[in-house]
Order: sequence, then C-alpha cells, then structure tokens
Amino acid sequence: MNYRHAYHAGNVGDVLKHVVLVTLLDRLLAKPAPLFFMDTHAGRGSYDLRSSEATRGAEWTEGVGRLLTADKMPPEVDRYLNLLRTFNAGGPASDMRFYPGSPLFALGLLRREDRKVFVEKHPEEAAFLRDATKGRRNLSVLEDDGYAALKGQLPPRENRGLVLIDPPFEATTEFDDLARALTTAQQRWPNGMFCAWYPLKADRESSRFHRAIVDAAIRKTLVLELSVRPHDSPTGLIGSGLLLINPPWQLDERMRIVLPALHQRLSPTGSGATRVEWLTGE
Ligand SMILES: C[S@@+](CC[C@H](N)C(=O)[O-])C[C@H]1O[C@@H](n2cnc3c(N)ncnc32)[C@H](O)[C@@H]1O
Repeated sequence: MNYRHAYHAGNVGDVLKHVVLVTLLDRLLAKPAPLFFMDTHAGRGSYDLRSSEATRGAEWTEGVGRLLTADKMPPEVDRYLNLLRTFNAGGPASDMRFYPGSPLFALGLLRREDRKVFVEKHPEEAAFLRDATKGRRNLSVLEDDGYAALKGQLPPRENRGLVLIDPPFEATTEFDDLARALTTAQQRWPNGMFCAWYPLKADRESSRFHRAIVDAAIRKTLVLELSVRPHDSPTGLIGSGLLLINPPWQLDERMRIVLPALHQRLSPTGSGATRVEWLTGE
C-alpha cells in the first residue's frame, strides 16, 4: 500500500470524479428521504496543495488549477468550484490552498439525517480522515478493506443513495476486483446508485473491464470518460473514466455538455477526448 492520494489531489481525474460526485449527490438530495452514502476508498479527506507531496508533480495545476479562473462553465462545474471556495474559507478560488477529498465534498452537501460510511485501509490516512470529520453526525469512518466493508453494508436500510468506489489501482488485479465487487454489490442492492473510477491507459485494460460488466449482465450502466492525452500515448495516464450504475435521469444529456466544457479547459492543446456512452441499457 504505497499509494498516497496527496500526490494526485486535484488532478484531472479528481476533477472528473468530484464534479460527477457533486452532481449525483445534488440529484439524490432533491428528495427529502434520508440517503445512504458510502465511500469505499475514502483517502484522508483533505489535501494541502502546498505540501511537498502535492508540489512534487504539481498534478493539480493541470487539473483544478486550470478551472480556478474559468468563467461560463456549466452549472455542475460552478457548483463544484463553489464548494471548493467554501472549503477554503470563502476566499477567491485563485487563492485555493486546500483541496477536499471525496468524503469532504460529500459532507459539504449531505444532511445530518443522511448516513455516511467512509472506508480507508491505510492506518495513517484513516486517522487523518477521522480527525478531519470529527463531530459529524451519522458518520462511521472504518479502517478496513473497502470491498469487504461494502459487502457488509448492502443493502442499506435507507434503500436510496450512492456508493463511490475509487481504488488506487496499484494491484494488477484491481480491474478484476472492481468488476467482481460491482457485480456482487449490484446483486445485493439492485436499485442502488454506484460510481466507480478507473484509469485510462494505452493498454486498454478498461475495455476488458467494460466487457466483464456486460458479461455480468449489470443493467443501466453509463460510461463517462475524459482524457487529455492522445489515446496511444505510451506513458502513464491518458485520462480516467467513471462507470455509473443506475445514474439519475438525463445525467447522460448533462454530461454531454459538462465533459466537453471540462476538456476544453483541461486540455489546452486539444489532445484527448470525452466519451458519454451507455454500456448497458434497462
Ligand atoms: C484514489 S485514493 C482515494 C481518493 C478519494 N476517494 C478522493 O476522491 O478524495 C485511494 C485510497 O484507497 C486507499 N486504499 C488502498 N487499498 C484499499 C483497500 N483495500 N480498501 C480501502 N482503501 C484502500 C488508499 O490508501 C487511498 O487513500
């Protein structure tokens, strides 16, 4: 477990993931009934962009850094940027120092009556997260394996809500583990909403992952991808994707506007592409 999200916080992958997370939660919160929200690979919750880790690769400067002065963005992106401002004591976005992780984005939106479960396996990250979320109601922070904890939590008594699965992809088996976890989770909670993040690389492992989801007969799956490098780029990450199960109504239509707007800002040379596509239907 060498992965530390502090090196990557606020990068292009985080922007895609967090803009979509905020959009999904907003949609769920439009109804008054309490929700269940689970983050299986939660990280530490808050990242200092001036830390040595964040400044080393300065990945955030090519991600959220490119959005801070953006105007005329779709409302979903403005909403995300406004949450960032709140998290930085309301100062101007261009002065941003702290980048919230997925648990703190969620806590910025969820209500006291909504039940939250955050899981993080790394002891130091889990301790930091516990500290960063101290005093919040209806919240459990578990130091555990995210996939094992997920099995134990489903189906939730609220029967509406969202599970975010955001693994580090350090292990070569991660795509297989993710496909297996989604298959089991969806069987246990067929009407639950799930959002899983994955990396896009030239090896096209993600296509194999998509085939596994189709073969498992999981229905209503939407693929959202945002890449900022050419698809045959031999090194590192090209971009990232999200696989959504049971996304809200017309999310695909909104994302056909949001993703190109993000791409335009995040890929100044125009490299890469966006994809919004149903993998499986009803
Ligand atoms: C990509 S980061 C999470 C980022 C976070 N979701 C966010 O958006 O701010 C993945 C996290 O998973 C943790 N992790 C690694 N293996 C895990 C496991 N088996 N179960 C739960 N967490 C794990 C890592 O320590 C790391 O903090």
